[in-house]
Amino acid sequence: MNAFDRSIKIAPSILSADFANFGAECRAIEAQGADWVHVDVMDGHFVPNITFGPSTCAAIRKHIRGVMDVHLMIAPVDPYIEAFVKSGADFVTVHAEAGAHLDRSLQLVRSFGAKAGVSLNPSTPASAIEFVLDRIDLVLVMTVNPGFGGQSFIASQVDKVRQLRAMIGARPIHIEIDGGITPETAPLVAAAGADVLVAGSAVFKGGSVETPEVYGRNIAAIRAAAEAARMSVAA
Ligand code: DX5
Ligand code: ZN
Repeated sequence: MNAFDRSIKIAPSILSADFANFGAECRAIEAQGADWVHVDVMDGHFVPNITFGPSTCAAIRKHIRGVMDVHLMIAPVDPYIEAFVKSGADFVTVHAEAGAHLDRSLQLVRSFGAKAGVSLNPSTPASAIEFVLDRIDLVLVMTVNPGFGGQSFIASQVDKVRQLRAMIGARPIHIEIDGGITPETAPLVAAAGADVLVAGSAVFKGGSVETPEVYGRNIAAIRAAAEAARMSVAA
């Protein structure tokens, strides 16, 4: 993995890919410019949808050359952390709302050798991470209520991103955004301080492994919009 940097990174969510063809889908999005591959794990309990578990993550890992970014929407989470780290995840992100002992969950992720992320639901304040800043490599701001792709961006979260950016200061902690990211919404969060943008439907729409150039155009459009917003803030 590369050294820490705050450049804009696009992380397609394979929740919007063909579930019967994850290998080819991962290869296609990486060839078309994806920086990270975002993998959504759902349990039908913490969120009202079910995807897959660690053995599927391990199978997917073989088709990803770069960063595998695993977002755990499961509760309880602690009993499964070791298995997800061992599946080959570079980042394992747990929800602040998934249990009573966030500090312990984050320590567990790092103890097995992955980078640790914490995700905040839209109703959870930025202050939830104030006392775990030294335990995290990433904070994931949900801009939809987790569970499904294709939902609308919740604009109130932009202020939370700004607060988190100020709280993080010079610490090497990524700010990742997940939910409703498009070329229209990406500039809002990029200007507020986000560096990793997850996008499911906006990357996969209109394309397939037979027409991967569509993925490439979709990724490039989100990246260009986010980078332009960064430049205008810096100017
Ligand atoms: C939502 C997932 C997201 C989802 C985003 O619960 O965590 O990663 O795939 O999908 P879009 O980009 O379609 O909102
Ligand atoms: Zn996600």
